[in-house]
Amino acid sequence: MLTVFDHPLIKHKLTVMRNKETGTKDFRQNLDEIGGLMVYEITRDLPLKEVDIETPICAYKGSTLAKEVVIVPILRAGLGVVNGIQNLIPTAKVAHIGMYRDEETLEPHPYFEKYPSCMEDAYVLIVDPMLATGGSSIAAIDMVKRQGSKNIKLVCLVGAPEGVAAVEKAHPDVDIYLASLDDHLNEKGYIVPGLGDAGDRIFGTK
Ligand code: URA
Repeated sequence: MLTVFDHPLIKHKLTVMRNKETGTKDFRQNLDEIGGLMVYEITRDLPLKEVDIETPICAYKGSTLAKEVVIVPILRAGLGVVNGIQNLIPTAKVAHIGMYRDEETLEPHPYFEKYPSCMEDAYVLIVDPMLATGGSSIAAIDMVKRQGSKNIKLVCLVGAPEGVAAVEKAHPDVDIYLASLDDHLNEKGYIVPGLGDAGDRIFGTK
């Protein structure tokens, strides 16, 4: 299922990020804030378990998260989404997936994978700011499924219809969350209107 968030704060902050005049510091700050706003909504289905605690006044049956949350950034740009989510879920663990693109076949190839031991039962958020062709997202979902994870969500900021269709076809069981569904991919693989190269804008490279 695809969810595109329709919220004035997200639209405002995403416009700041799209603006080519926005520098690295403000780009990252708005990315953190959008990540937090999205995850607040996405995690409405997080399961809870009862805990018995004592308030200063009396005994109380409270609630605590029943599952480990694992954030899986796709290197490199996905790293930029981790902070905003961890601000809301400080106990979340962070896995990492690195991939390079074969220049001839254009297929993504993993060069690095690192996971916590709780992947089978965890609530997994794969994060990447841009869902362009969908190739790296599909490969990342394949890799996370090989760890035994069943509860997987894909969280991106800006998506192209081509990428959404590809992920939905390959992994119909994985929910996709976007701050914006943009128009199309250009001939260089950039999302239009998009925000440019997310990794370069997050890390100040070119
Ligand atoms: N990756 C990016 O960083 N930007 C795009 O527009 C597409 C893929």
